[in-house]
Amino acid sequence: MPLLDVNNISISFGGLAAVSGFSFHVEEGEIVSIIGPNGAGKTTVFNMLTGVYKPDAGSIKFDGVECNGLAPQEIVKLGIARTFQNIRLYKDMRVIENVIVGMHINQKYGFFDMLLRTKKFRTCEYESAKRAQQILEMVGLSQHTHDYAKNLPYGEQRKLEIARAIATSAKLLILDEPAAGMNTGESESLMHFIRTLKDKGFTILLIEHDMNVVMNISDRIYVLNYGKKIAEGLPEEIVSDPQVITAYLGVTKEGKDAAGD
Ligand SMILES: Nc1ncnc2c1ncn2[C@@H]1O[C@H](COP(=O)(O)OP(=O)(O)O)[C@@H](O)[C@H]1O
Ligand SMILES: [Mg+2]
Repeated sequence: MPLLDVNNISISFGGLAAVSGFSFHVEEGEIVSIIGPNGAGKTTVFNMLTGVYKPDAGSIKFDGVECNGLAPQEIVKLGIARTFQNIRLYKDMRVIENVIVGMHINQKYGFFDMLLRTKKFRTCEYESAKRAQQILEMVGLSQHTHDYAKNLPYGEQRKLEIARAIATSAKLLILDEPAAGMNTGESESLMHFIRTLKDKGFTILLIEHDMNVVMNISDRIYVLNYGKKIAEGLPEEIVSDPQVITAYLGVTKEGKDAAGD
C-alpha cells in the first residue's frame, strides 16, 4: 500500500478547472516530484493534500486513512507537513523557537498555558527544547539555535522551514519549490540536504521548478499542465517526453512572467 494514494482529485475555482482528475501515489521512502509550468495546478494539489482546499471530487489516502475533508490540523496530526513556496517563518523569533512552534500540534498544553507559562507548560518546555535541539542538529542548523530567523541566509531559512515541518513528527514532507530563489551553490546544497532526509527515513513529495534539482533527486516524476497529468515516470523518461518538452517550451513563449505563487 502506498503511503500516499491520491485518486482522481479535481477542483475548480469559478469556471476554472485548476486540477482535473489527477491521480498519483508516493511509496514510503521515495522522493517524488510534481513538475509543470506556472499555473499548472501544483500548489493547488498541495493545498488539497494539506486540507487548505477540499477537492470537489476524488480521494486522498494517507497511511490508509481518507484525508479528503479533514481540517489542516488533523492532516498534520496524521503525519503530513509542508513548506511554502514563499518561506513562512516567524522571522522575529529565534531559530529554536520556530522549531518549537512546529511541535505545538503534538503538545499537551494549550496556547494559553504557553502564554501564561503555567506549570504544565514549563514541564513540557524542557522536553520540547531538547527535541528541537536534536532536530536542529539533524538539519545542520545547531550553530544558529539562538539566532533570529530573519538573520539566517536564505538557504538556511529553507532548512529551518523544513526543520519546523519535521518537528510536527511528519512522515511525509511536502516541499513547495524549495529551490526557488536559490543560486546554483545553494540549490546543490539543498539537493544534498533533501537526500539526507530520505536517508533518515522521510518520504518526500516535491514541487520544483529547477529541472536540475528535479532530475537529480527524484525517484519518480509526475508532470501537470493545465491541471491535468500529461506524463509520469522516471527522470530519464520525463526529459525525453515530447509532451513535456512542448509544455515547457509553450510556457517560455507565452508567459514566463506569470506570477509564481
Ligand atoms: N484560491 C484560488 N482562487 C482562484 N484561482 C486559483 C486559486 N488558487 C489557484 N488558482 C488558480 O489555479 C491555477 C493553478 O494555480 P497553482 O496551483 O498556484 O499553480 P502552480 O503552483 O502550478 O504554479 C491557476 O490558474 C491559479 O490562478
Ligand atoms: Mg505553485
